[in-house]
Amino acid sequence: MTTAARAGAEEDVRRRVPDVGSLMAALDGTNYLADVGLATALFLAVRLPQPILLEGEAGVGKTEAAKALAELLDTPLYRLQCYEGIDAGEALYEWNHQRQLLGIRLAEVRDTGVTETDLFAPQYLLRRPLLQALEHPGPRPAVLLLDEIDRADAEFEAFTFELLAESAVTIPELGTIRATHPPIVILTSNRTRDLHDALTRRCLYHWIDYPGPARIAEIVRRRVPASSGPLALQAAAVITRLRTLDLAKPPGISEAIDWVSALSVLGVERIDPGITEQTWGSIVKNRDDLQLVGSRGAAWLVDGTDG
Ligand SMILES: Nc1ncnc2c1ncn2[C@@H]1O[C@H](COP(=O)(O)OP(=O)(O)O)[C@@H](O)[C@H]1O
Ligand SMILES: [Mg+2]
Repeated sequence: MTTAARAGAEEDVRRRVPDVGSLMAALDGTNYLADVGLATALFLAVRLPQPILLEGEAGVGKTEAAKALAELLDTPLYRLQCYEGIDAGEALYEWNHQRQLLGIRLAEVRDTGVTETDLFAPQYLLRRPLLQALEHPGPRPAVLLLDEIDRADAEFEAFTFELLAESAVTIPELGTIRATHPPIVILTSNRTRDLHDALTRRCLYHWIDYPGPARIAEIVRRRVPASSGPLALQAAAVITRLRTLDLAKPPGISEAIDWVSALSVLGVERIDPGITEQTWGSIVKNRDDLQLVGSRGAAWLVDGTDG
């Protein structure tokens, strides 16, 4: 049954994603624009299957890539946002102590008695993303996103990896749970530290470059359908110029999207220095950065001249 179910799921995934070109088109259909390099990497992650590590600066679309992939496969996305000090309880499972206590009280009141086996039963388990992804019943594998894995410590990294390699987890009180459909695993890192060799060796790797202005404009048009082409291009040029300054918080694609949304709401059709200064709040979100940008001047940002 398990083997048949898995073979069926593989066939289903193959039909949905027959080649790199169809995956690119399907990503496009979710409004996620991938170049052929990223689409190939994601295709292999789906079809081999092998975990993929996506690296790149904040805001280049790493998290969104996982969301888009889950959407086009019409399968759930389980996301584990990593942070310093994250542990197995947050990632895998915990026992719901409050419910267990309540179970004991109820048994007392009803005078029914309660055994340890009663208390360590599946209904008292709090399932976290790793377990949810392993237990996903199909019909297709789930997408498991281990987001910003570089924030977690090295031991946690090793722990998750062993578990994924096995596609199984042993819960002492319940036994071993083996995935029928091992998840499609996407890890992301902002490169705040180097990851373990053991991890990188097992993963496919793809570096997402920061896109140029034309690509940013294309993404903005997808995300803010009401915006005009020229406005999106102008905004993308400003964002690209801003990123040449040594800012503490360089604006990314999200800021370009937010800014163009704001300009559209304000009825702006052309960006000029005045409206740029009026709407700084969408793109420059740090006081020191604001001073730096102010000293360079909005005219320079808008047309590359010093006004
Ligand atoms: N290639 C892309 N296609 C469409 N939208 C994108 C793309 N890259 C980034 N975005 C937009 O930028 C935002 C930030 O991307 P995100 O995935 O959160 O970045 P990261 O996880 O790399 O920090 C997303 O919400 C999405 O709207
Ligand atoms: Mg992210």
